[in-house]
Amino acid sequence: MDLMEKLVKLENEAKESIEKAKTIEELRELTIRYLGRKSSLTEIMKSMKTISKELRPQVGKKANEVKTKIENLLNKKEEQIEENIFLNLKETEWVDITEPGERFEKGHLHPITIMRMEVEDIFTSMGFAIVSGPEIELDYYNFEALNIPQDHPARDMQDTIWTKDGSLLRTHTSCVQIRTMEKFRPPIRAIAPGRVFRYEETDASHEHTFYQVEGLMIDKNISVANLIAVMKTMLREVFGRDVKVRLRPGYFPFVEPGFELDINCLICGGEGCPVCKRSGWVELLPCGMVHPNVLKAGNIDPDEYSGFAFGMGLDRLVMMRYGIDDIRLFHSGDLRFLEQF
Ligand code: FA5
Repeated sequence: MDLMEKLVKLENEAKESIEKAKTIEELRELTIRYLGRKSSLTEIMKSMKTISKELRPQVGKKANEVKTKIENLLNKKEEQIEENIFLNLKETEWVDITEPGERFEKGHLHPITIMRMEVEDIFTSMGFAIVSGPEIELDYYNFEALNIPQDHPARDMQDTIWTKDGSLLRTHTSCVQIRTMEKFRPPIRAIAPGRVFRYEETDASHEHTFYQVEGLMIDKNISVANLIAVMKTMLREVFGRDVKVRLRPGYFPFVEPGFELDINCLICGGEGCPVCKRSGWVELLPCGMVHPNVLKAGNIDPDEYSGFAFGMGLDRLVMMRYGIDDIRLFHSGDLRFLEQF
């Protein structure tokens, strides 16, 4: 059989098979059989070089015609099959694609997570690293190394939840100060956001489980001026404007001197409310210069280096930013509250 006859036979055979096909899958198979890499048509086209110059244009033309015809037949048949599927849909299977879809419930971040990420961005842009420590801590890191020995009255300031084996749930993120000094050498610039726990009664501004962001900067010649500059920058970034703050002396055994940085209550505008305990000020950011004993515990020479540290209450920062008047809402699981963020 010469090539022209072969092509005509192929065309007829393809036409017949395509007509018989009932499903899209069958059509896919036929496409491979008649137009695929191993099909007779492709073979003929490949062999074009070997046939005589006189016959070549004629055979080439016919091969291309057959190819186009088969393609057209396949496309047409596909349209037909799809139309049939559509026409045969039962009443219940109809979909009105112009109808607006059902709203898809999307999860979102918790407001404390949003704030934590924002604070992390602010500090990383100032060259601070983000570090962390365990939530179940040793007495050594939570108290001892922070210049709070056994029997020190400061231990009462933080009602501690102890585990049966004598470890504890960290009462503050300050433990990460020591862990960071053990790992890195000065200059150190780090923040440690994390969850802390205290055995205490809850009210509008107190939780038993809450979040702090510890900050630590150690280098040669670090002073209170550096501390204030960093705190001010951070608050301006968080609130998008300058907020009224006050600095008063505060006692923490691990800093000397120590301060309490309070923020003007943004819930009541300083008038007095349950969140600020009617004082107009909210305790937000205790801080101070790292005590020499703490530097020594971290193996850093206090004669050569100095540093500042702070321990910011993250929940309270979120409350001030969004005007939330009760800290207990954060872990209430109340979707009406959470969905506002
Ligand atoms: C501390 O925990 C010190 N470690 C902070 C510190 C770090 C001082 C570094 C100096 C240098 P305080 O117990 O005040 O301090 O807690 C720090 C902040 O955590 C408070 O200002 C407040 O914003 C927040 N906070 C404290 N207790 C609670 C609570 N029960 N619920 C919610 N937030 C709290």
